[in-house]
Amino acid sequence: MSTSNVITILLVEDEDFDVCRVKNTIRLFAERLHVADVVSNGRAALDLIQKKPDKYDVVILDYQISGGLRGEELIRKIKEVDPFIQIIVITKMTINVSDYEFANNLLKAGAFWYCTKYPGNIEEYIYQPTDFILSIFNAFEKKMLEKHKLKADRRLMQNVENLLEAKKLIGESKAMVQLREAIEKYAKSDVNILISGASGTGKELVAWNIHLKGKRRYEKFVPINCGSIPHDLIESELFGYEKGSFTGANATKQGLFEVANNGTIFLDEVAELSLPAQVKVLRVIQDGEIEKIGRTGSMSVNVRIIAATNKNLATEVNEGRFREDLYYRLNVVPLDIVPLRQRGDDILLLIDHFLEYFSIDLDIAKPTVEPKAREILLAYKWPGNVRELRNVVQRLVLNCTEKITAKDVSNPMILHNHILTKDESNFEDMASGQVLPLRDMERIFRLRYFKYVRSISSSDSNAAEKLGLAPSNFYRMCKELGIK
Ligand SMILES: Nc1ncnc2c1ncn2[C@@H]1O[C@H](COP(=O)(O)OP(=O)(O)OP(=O)(O)O)[C@@H](O)[C@H]1O
Ligand SMILES: [Mg+2]
Repeated sequence: MSTSNVITILLVEDEDFDVCRVKNTIRLFAERLHVADVVSNGRAALDLIQKKPDKYDVVILDYQISGGLRGEELIRKIKEVDPFIQIIVITKMTINVSDYEFANNLLKAGAFWYCTKYPGNIEEYIYQPTDFILSIFNAFEKKMLEKHKLKADRRLMQNVENLLEAKKLIGESKAMVQLREAIEKYAKSDVNILISGASGTGKELVAWNIHLKGKRRYEKFVPINCGSIPHDLIESELFGYEKGSFTGANATKQGLFEVANNGTIFLDEVAELSLPAQVKVLRVIQDGEIEKIGRTGSMSVNVRIIAATNKNLATEVNEGRFREDLYYRLNVVPLDIVPLRQRGDDILLLIDHFLEYFSIDLDIAKPTVEPKAREILLAYKWPGNVRELRNVVQRLVLNCTEKITAKDVSNPMILHNHILTKDESNFEDMASGQVLPLRDMERIFRLRYFKYVRSISSSDSNAAEKLGLAPSNFYRMCKELGIK
């Protein structure tokens, strides 16, 4: 194994005369260059490399050894066993030295370098000593760099894996399953995506998932909240400026599009972009160019754009607040995130997820939730969606002991809008204010309830199960209600 600075060499050479010449050529650097083993054929070399993984740094390989396994084939086999080993080929003068193709084939097979042996009348050296020794040092350097790169690549991949785990989208409702499928499908390409959804539904999380599952995952993800930047600053934030381009521009500033180059930019609350800024964003999408303030000539950038809004952007277009051309450019793929109250049991999954998260954070045992408390949480309307749920669970974990009770949950300090439960007995809403015979009212209730349960279930049989019905009964009742 290569420790410290010593370079461990395996010499594959079948003529004693040349073995001596190789050893003599590197003698001057004997402290750093150590010929650990000498073998006379390819099979023996391969066996040694297989048996002693990571022992050798450099193989010095005679091209003309006798025996079956030699030349390019041997080089390939050695690299298969240990891709980090570097191979320097030595060949007889008889090879046409100007044969570019010969050398090229060696390198293509995986050799690091090659040299032609001195003629036999030069008994001391195999090759010009300085060149020979330097090429061994360089080969070793390359091995170290390649190992280092692999480590760095692994770390980078691990970082992405860790981020993906931390940004996992929880939920098994039909809407969430479909959303995850869409993310998988569109992440791979570079299409622009417009994410719509009410506040706290997970728009930024979805944008992260698209970025981390796409080709640009090792590059930057740059989120920008278009609503939080004053209108007169948005251009300089997005596109940057050159030093001296206006009073106060004391240094050149990189715009966020430049920072995100090769990565992804997330335009959050995109509806808040001013009309002049919209024109500039359109220009980036159309031409891949940004105009930096104070710079003559534009600059190319390559960014993927994911935008998000909690407004209806089509309405914004109709009312003249958002450019239609930009809308179509951003909205190549629309992803709509449904409110949490329409995701059924996902509420419980998310509660469980955040209970675990916060109890690990506080280093306490994960509390259990009493069935009655679950019911309340499940019936709540969650106007602030997942963000609100996360905060509620955090408060519960901070306030409660092992068991979360209905009383804990109903505390207005915990569930601020406890009144806002999904009350199915809201009769005015159900029957448009009329008082109907019980039978008709029941029918309305069934119709709505069946539709609701089906919308949050993955299949008919799953909905039937939730309703406590046999699938055949569920089907028959749907038919009676005119749903099927
Ligand atoms: N499906 C989910 N699984 C796990 N965590 C989620 C999920 N959806 C949202 N969250 C978490 O809820 C919080 C709010 O999500 P996020 O910021 O992505 O929502 P948003 O739609 O961008 O909100 P806003 O409209 O307020 O900007 C974050 O902490 C996020 O990690
Ligand atoms: Mg957001």
